[in-house]
Amino acid sequence: MTAHIAQPEETGQRSGGPALPQERRLVTEIPGPASRDLLARRQRSVAAGVSHVLPVFITAAGGGVLVDADGNSLIDFGSGIAVTSVGNSAPEVVERVTEQVRSFTHTCFMVTPYEGYVAVCEQLARRTPGDHDKRSALFNSGAEAVENAVKIARHATGRPAVVTFDHAYHGRTNLAMALTAKNMPYKHRFGPFAGEIYRMPMAYPLRWPTGPTNCAQEAYATVTELIHSQIGEQNVAALIIEPIQGEGGFVVPPVGFLPRLAEFCRTHGIVFIADEIQTGFCRTGNWFACEHEGVVPDLITTAKGIAGGMPLAAVTGRAELMDAVHPGGLGGTYGGNPVACAAALGAMQAMEDHDLAGRARNIGALMLPRLRALAERHPQIGDVRGRGAMLAIELIRPGTIEPAPEVANRVAAACHTAGLMVLTCGTFGNVLRFLPPLVISDHLLDEGLSILADAFAMA
Ligand SMILES: Cc1ncc(COP(=O)(O)O)c(C=O)c1O
Repeated sequence: MTAHIAQPEETGQRSGGPALPQERRLVTEIPGPASRDLLARRQRSVAAGVSHVLPVFITAAGGGVLVDADGNSLIDFGSGIAVTSVGNSAPEVVERVTEQVRSFTHTCFMVTPYEGYVAVCEQLARRTPGDHDKRSALFNSGAEAVENAVKIARHATGRPAVVTFDHAYHGRTNLAMALTAKNMPYKHRFGPFAGEIYRMPMAYPLRWPTGPTNCAQEAYATVTELIHSQIGEQNVAALIIEPIQGEGGFVVPPVGFLPRLAEFCRTHGIVFIADEIQTGFCRTGNWFACEHEGVVPDLITTAKGIAGGMPLAAVTGRAELMDAVHPGGLGGTYGGNPVACAAALGAMQAMEDHDLAGRARNIGALMLPRLRALAERHPQIGDVRGRGAMLAIELIRPGTIEPAPEVANRVAAACHTAGLMVLTCGTFGNVLRFLPPLVISDHLLDEGLSILADAFAMA
């Protein structure tokens, strides 16, 4: 017999969004019978290559909770991988999307334009670092934005080479895979990859061979020497970097590394691309993570948090670079879809009205001391790092920096069973990352941290 899928109204709700009770509530084991039935259907119909973290099938979400088909309410420390920063079904997003859907759903901006696209580009010019003249182009996914940023940089400079970093993640399309560092699961047997990509050592304080103190200076010296000797500065179109690396392990480069790289790029006419797809839109306590060190990128790629869960991405940058491309050279059928643009305008309004950058800083201030206290009790925690509401702990074998992915997996599994959604990441799979929606309540943060502490006590 098929298990009953609990509908939101049966659990006391008409729908999701912030009106959902902001509580953890477990009414079955995780996953429960309805989710297990759906999982069986999924396995018969969805390609095995598309994986999931936790097979609870969601029927409603909002604020800091995810409600599943069995009526369980889980605390969300993942935001669908840094997407629902304004919360799921945020009222500002729902309102604008509903209005837009009623008016029209698609014309293709390249066929007949509409105001929403222009308004999003105006917002991007206003919100992204730097007060120079800017232009934007809109796309559907982060990977697509990355591909287009590289296209623009190559076209504008007439140079071929692109510099990327160890532990980088830029997406799953062919060029984005070439820029991404990690083989499994992202690249394995998917080659050959796009050419003229050069990978440099990343300033990763915990793992820098001579220690964190020397990391910024030595990494900068190594990267610039390698660019000089192995590529030649004049052959480099762009350098692309995440201001805080996401999938690669929430690696925060030491202070000084990013500004010096940006300066080096400026000196040599290399386009400095900040990939802010995961860090952008208030996540780290500023609208963009580059702002923490006053870095002004030439091009910036955004997606994820931009539109409250609707698929939208952008490349924003210096007008002279963006406008170098001939008419028709950029675009795509769905890029800047009117419904996604309406969502983005609603999401940005919510970020501003509720000072979600400030809220991200508060979340960091609440979580960091608790994570540090946990690290004092558990020697497997080798590092606590991050900014704002983009935080992580890296797990190691005590007394070494040898990665301990099995501990990360055990702790994550214990959290899931207890109704807390956490994600892992890292080149070595040994990092637990925390990306709560910025609208989550303090009491859910607090309860989530207690669940994490209990999971460590058992691990
Ligand atoms: C920094 C960064 N760049 C690019 C991407 C790819 O974005 P998408 O999954 O929307 O293609 C991601 C996704 O995790 C990311 O974190």
